[in-house]
Amino acid sequence: MNIAVFASHGGSDLQAIIDGCKNNMIEANVSVVISNNGSSMALQRANNENIPSYHLSAKKSGSEEALAVEILDVLEKYNIDMIFLAGYMRMLHISILEKYDNRIFNIHPALLPKFGGKGMYGMNVHTAVIEAKEKETGVTIHRVSAEYDSGEIVAQTTVPVLENDTPEELGARVLEREHEFLVEVISDIANGKICLG
Ligand code: GRF
Repeated sequence: MNIAVFASHGGSDLQAIIDGCKNNMIEANVSVVISNNGSSMALQRANNENIPSYHLSAKKSGSEEALAVEILDVLEKYNIDMIFLAGYMRMLHISILEKYDNRIFNIHPALLPKFGGKGMYGMNVHTAVIEAKEKETGVTIHRVSAEYDSGEIVAQTTVPVLENDTPEELGARVLEREHEFLVEVISDIANGKICLG
């Protein structure tokens, strides 16, 4: 299975997927990495691992449509079976969603449907969880649809919220869990336990 990972910033989730593939916990390859951010760590990580990587953005391409055409060309070039959005801060164009229907997944650092939707990313999520006095948060992996954080949930795991947690402390605990959980769930996608539709 050829995976394309899209990431915008640190790429620690990307690294967990790469490592899972390298040590055969996931029977698949990260075949290409795409980022909208030319100076993201994600692109550097791909580079360090000799994985082809592309900085593609609507600004560079001229329009959302032109960007979608470029992304689709790259996905075709690497025979991509599955797309994983690991901290990708942009919405994918409908033409990509349609072509890879059921084959695009996103990871969200909370228990959707709570704490999802537009604006719910990064520390905003963990701050909202703490303000709501939740005892438990977690990680959600879901299929990607045309609305933010609303496609079919394929897997969730919980993470405790501790008393006096700051958003940063909670975020670090959730991210650590993401790294393990990603490997478990992508492995289930690769071996067919979670179907690609
Ligand atoms: C993670 O918290 C993930 O849930 C969210 O973006 C973050 C990515 O972190 N979608 P990193 O860039 O992989 O370190």
